[in-house]
Amino acid sequence: MKSIIIYYSFSGNTRKVANLLHTYLQDKGQSELIRLRGLKEPQGFFTQARKALVHAKTEIEETKFDLTEYDLICLGTPVWAFGPAPAVNTYLANCFGLGGKEVILFSTYGSGSGNTRCLNFMQQALSGNKVKGFRRFSVQQFKANNADFVISQIKKIGL
Ligand SMILES: Cc1cc2nc3c(=O)[nH]c(=O)nc-3n(C[C@H](O)[C@H](O)[C@H](O)COP(=O)(O)O)c2cc1C
Repeated sequence: MKSIIIYYSFSGNTRKVANLLHTYLQDKGQSELIRLRGLKEPQGFFTQARKALVHAKTEIEETKFDLTEYDLICLGTPVWAFGPAPAVNTYLANCFGLGGKEVILFSTYGSGSGNTRCLNFMQQALSGNKVKGFRRFSVQQFKANNADFVISQIKKIGL
């Protein structure tokens, strides 16, 4: 199985979860890990939240949008103002090659408010891609360091 994990992380929590998922998937086959980076990262909580609230996109560093060669596609984001981070919005709008594939959506969050809404938004954003099926998992920010917990959440969705 050939997997790819594409994620954004500002303060490192989603990166930790993405790294654990990567290691987990490497045991099952091939896995690639891509971190999205904004060209102009919004700085400061209020700017970040304001942009995320309106599902703004932002310019991101060159990355791989063609997902045709992968069997399993995993997309991760921190929850920002009940939605994905702007860099993830950009990626969702531009990626292709997801037709007939399993897609894993994952998030990390603080209070948890808006987490479901964030994952729903990601799923909706990909609705034109003829995805075979979505599975989702989330990790609270303080549990991102807890490898056993993160792996248990990954296993819970049948990976
Ligand atoms: C701008 C901003 C907005 C946030 N909004 C939410 C939110 O709506 N709901 C929530 O549960 N957590 C929220 N959080 C907390 C983050 O989702 C959480 O800290 C996450 O793990 C950060 O991931 P990262 O370290 O990969 O950047 C917000 C954090 C920031 C910086």
